[in-house]
Amino acid sequence: MTSTESNSTSSRVGAPLVVAENMTVGYELEQQRQLLTALTDINLTIHEGEFMVLVGPSGCGKTTFINAVAGLLSPWEGSVTYEGKPIKGTSKDRAMVFQDYALMPWRTVEKNVAMPFEFIAHPFSDKEIQEQVYQVIRNVGLDGFEKSFPHELSGGMRQRVGIARAMVTQPKLLLADEPFGALDAMTREVLQGQLEKLVMESGQTVIFITHSIDEAISLGDRIAVISHRPGTVREIVEVNIERPRLAEGEITQHPDYGPLRQHLWDLVKDEALGAKSEDVA
Ligand SMILES: Nc1ncnc2c1ncn2[C@@H]1O[C@H](COP(=O)(O)OP(=O)(O)OP(=O)(O)O)[C@@H](O)[C@H]1O
Ligand SMILES: [Mg+2]
Repeated sequence: MTSTESNSTSSRVGAPLVVAENMTVGYELEQQRQLLTALTDINLTIHEGEFMVLVGPSGCGKTTFINAVAGLLSPWEGSVTYEGKPIKGTSKDRAMVFQDYALMPWRTVEKNVAMPFEFIAHPFSDKEIQEQVYQVIRNVGLDGFEKSFPHELSGGMRQRVGIARAMVTQPKLLLADEPFGALDAMTREVLQGQLEKLVMESGQTVIFITHSIDEAISLGDRIAVISHRPGTVREIVEVNIERPRLAEGEITQHPDYGPLRQHLWDLVKDEALGAKSEDVA
């Protein structure tokens, strides 16, 4: 059920895509003129086509990790590489889905989704871009809403616009920071199913953050449990449940589900309690 970086093979679908080695990274706190270490000595490899989920207590450094992979932060020590090269700055190969949607309220759905093409060099005509935009809008089930504005949509629909925008340039790597965190349970389940389908069809690699253990098991090939701050990789748990997991039936009925859930819950609870007692001390 569990694995370490050195002995796990079953869910490694392709070559290493993102490799963090002994990575320590954090922030300069301007007011206090001091450094805050968010993650320390991180060793984590994400393979091509893999769906890697990060879980861990609030403030343990999950967002920091994907910010480093996105190229928004540089390691203080150690390294993080993409296709074998140190990550320097952002790239169209690595697209982010934010928890708060981050849509432009004055732009229609199609104009929001088309936005990434304004920032990358590409060979496409306006007509080709529109075709791609309409295709990805269809893929997330929003056809008919191309001309709507974000305020005319529900929260779940807005989140789907965010996913469509991240998918439209067909990035090799999708970085998703609690994309479904603010949604009701039913919408969340529907979107999880849509995301699984999209990712299975595209073969994309995903790094996905969640606070939900059920979501982690539903979506992840592997789940990295991060310890409380400064975060380290506490354990990597493999999920060997066949896909599609969410298209039909109840994944919770799978015989591996209960034991996996319990194991993850024990790890995460442990870390959350550890963080609390340290904060008080
Ligand atoms: N821009 C920033 N400047 C200074 N400190 C930051 C900044 N962003 C995050 N931190 C600090 O880094 C640590 C890790 O934050 P991070 O956002 O990566 O945690 P997280 O695991 O994503 O938490 P959550 O689950 O609450 O989103 C926290 O202690 C946080 O206060
Ligand atoms: Mg976060």
